[in-house]
Amino acid sequence: EARFADDIEAILRLKRERNAVILAHNYQTPEIFHCISDIRGDSLALAREAQNTEASVIVMAGVHFMAETAKLMNPEKTVLIPDERAGCSLAESITAENIRALKRANPGVPVVTYVNSSAAVKAETDVCCTSGNAKRVVETVAREWNTSRIIMIPDEFLARNIQNETGIEMITWPGHCEVHERFTPQEIRQYRRMHQGVIVLAHPECPPEVVAEADYAGSTAGMLDFVADRHPEKVLLVTECSMSDNLAALFPATQFVRPCNLCPHMKRITLPAIRHALETMTQQVEIPQEHFLPARRSVERMLAI
Ligand code: 13P
Ligand code: SF4
Repeated sequence: EARFADDIEAILRLKRERNAVILAHNYQTPEIFHCISDIRGDSLALAREAQNTEASVIVMAGVHFMAETAKLMNPEKTVLIPDERAGCSLAESITAENIRALKRANPGVPVVTYVNSSAAVKAETDVCCTSGNAKRVVETVAREWNTSRIIMIPDEFLARNIQNETGIEMITWPGHCEVHERFTPQEIRQYRRMHQGVIVLAHPECPPEVVAEADYAGSTAGMLDFVADRHPEKVLLVTECSMSDNLAALFPATQFVRPCNLCPHMKRITLPAIRHALETMTQQVEIPQEHFLPARRSVERMLAI
């Protein structure tokens, strides 16, 4: 669209001048996702790719914890977040002191932390996980620690969904994603009545009652793979709004039923904000030194699994 052209042109030029790459999460709006980003994916893919890039500057078109993870993997590189207020209700739900209290109450129980968390919280963590590898991480930790109980924080619903899949007992924290907690089973049943034959894909940050109504639950990359592999005629993505917009452009033969909830944090990242970040080289993400090594270790353990 013409209204985007000026910013897109400036961003593409600035990327070359600064030797920068733009990493975009699947919830970014289509003009960011399709027109200016170099790497696109779920939280796991962005964490992995941040590790591999040769560029000297990384712009995170995503939320703050994703930029922190990129910085943890690339301390020598400049990592920019185009809007520092792009937070996450899950990351905000828990502090390092909260985890220390959980560990004191459950001595010897390993801590698996969703990457949607601050570096300070990751520093208190044994192994991180994302929605894309949570089952594998939890099963590996249970085997290696020889335990059937895990502290899995801060997403209560992700932990319950993984408990249902694995049978491993989770000690949880009452953190929720403000986008996914709003979906209800009644809503899903109503869409199934309205759209005969619709395939329902839900994100595991949804409440377990919602996941129980779905045909498949998985990360945003899992949803993309599902559509790419099976080419469903009609699909309902129980997740953030831009996900359907981005996939609809990639898979024109699939019809996307579009009830969705917006993430206000993801939506703070705009073309003008990205352009401004590259022009001014702000805001640069820094990790407090006392958290750096233990937080990095918890992400590295995840990536090794
Ligand atoms: P994934 O893309 O890893 O599935 O995560 C979803 C999310 O809510 C990230 O903020
Ligand atoms: Fe956080 Fe939910 Fe937004 Fe993802 S969609 S950034 S989990 S609030």
